[in-house]
Amino acid sequence: KPRSNSSFFIASKVAVLGAAGGIGQPLSLLLKLNKDVTGLSLYDLRGTPGVAADLSHIPTNSKVTGYTPEKGGLKEALAGVEVVVIPAGVPRKPGMTRDDLFNTNASIVRDLAKGIAEFAPKAKVLIISNPVNSTVPIVAEVLKSKGVYDPKKVFGVTTLDVIRASRFISEVKGTNPAEETVTVVGGHSGHTIVPLISQSGHPDISGETLDALVNRIQFGGDEVVKAKDGAGSATLSMAQAGARFAGSLLKAAKGETVVEPTYVESPLFKDQGVDYFSSKVTLGPEGVKEIHPLGKLNAYEEKLIATALEDLKKNIKKGVDFVAQNP
Ligand code: 2OP
Repeated sequence: KPRSNSSFFIASKVAVLGAAGGIGQPLSLLLKLNKDVTGLSLYDLRGTPGVAADLSHIPTNSKVTGYTPEKGGLKEALAGVEVVVIPAGVPRKPGMTRDDLFNTNASIVRDLAKGIAEFAPKAKVLIISNPVNSTVPIVAEVLKSKGVYDPKKVFGVTTLDVIRASRFISEVKGTNPAEETVTVVGGHSGHTIVPLISQSGHPDISGETLDALVNRIQFGGDEVVKAKDGAGSATLSMAQAGARFAGSLLKAAKGETVVEPTYVESPLFKDQGVDYFSSKVTLGPEGVKEIHPLGKLNAYEEKLIATALEDLKKNIKKGVDFVAQNP
């Protein structure tokens, strides 16, 4: 059993489902540059053989292979993977909320989850496809229906909210964003995104400055949607966020202790009927190792959380109901 005592080599194969799209391509590039990745499976409806051939010339350790649905491509793509990242689906256009994507993306994510249940039931699954607040419960419900759900292994990627928060707070304060850490909790959409500024390096931010900062973090995605003017939403920053979170899981698989906020099945607000919530999570070899409580909040943040919980409850129910009605 080489894995149990190994500090020498761990095979870490990663699959990207939706790899030829706007997020999928830069995400795959960043994963190709990660030396913890030993194999990279790129799956999409089309285009992946080309993306894989292109990336395969980069002289890093991993072998890259592209797959399409023909000839059992999903099965092949998922064989032996440790981590599956899902950016598949359609992005927002100006004026849309993430929830407006539900009708299209829900069935895409459900079908990929069925493939994961069958071909990679032990993999850690990272969901980027929006609306994340609902697509994470969709994946969980599909895995449950196939008897392979492990709550330690299903994650909604909220890292983009975390990196935006550190960037935006640095712009308010004129500091180095790389040195700013802001915990962001809740979900990944509008008012469900709750930055805990009182726990950041700048608990003094208050009044209108605080309101504007919180609003910018909650609706940062809209800035990109507007600027792209119909051509989609954040792809490059989201790729960076997804690659960072996948990288954290691979480090944790090697025994490093990593703490990242992420949207998972969580005990924190179950008593209020909210089964999934993002908070700081210690990652370990099995995925979730420890879900951290929120810590001390001020009255302003308590109010933001109360609003977030209302939205989250609806978003989660929508995902659960979708799988019940459209198995
Ligand atoms: C965002 O936050 C695309 O949901 C993504 O911009």
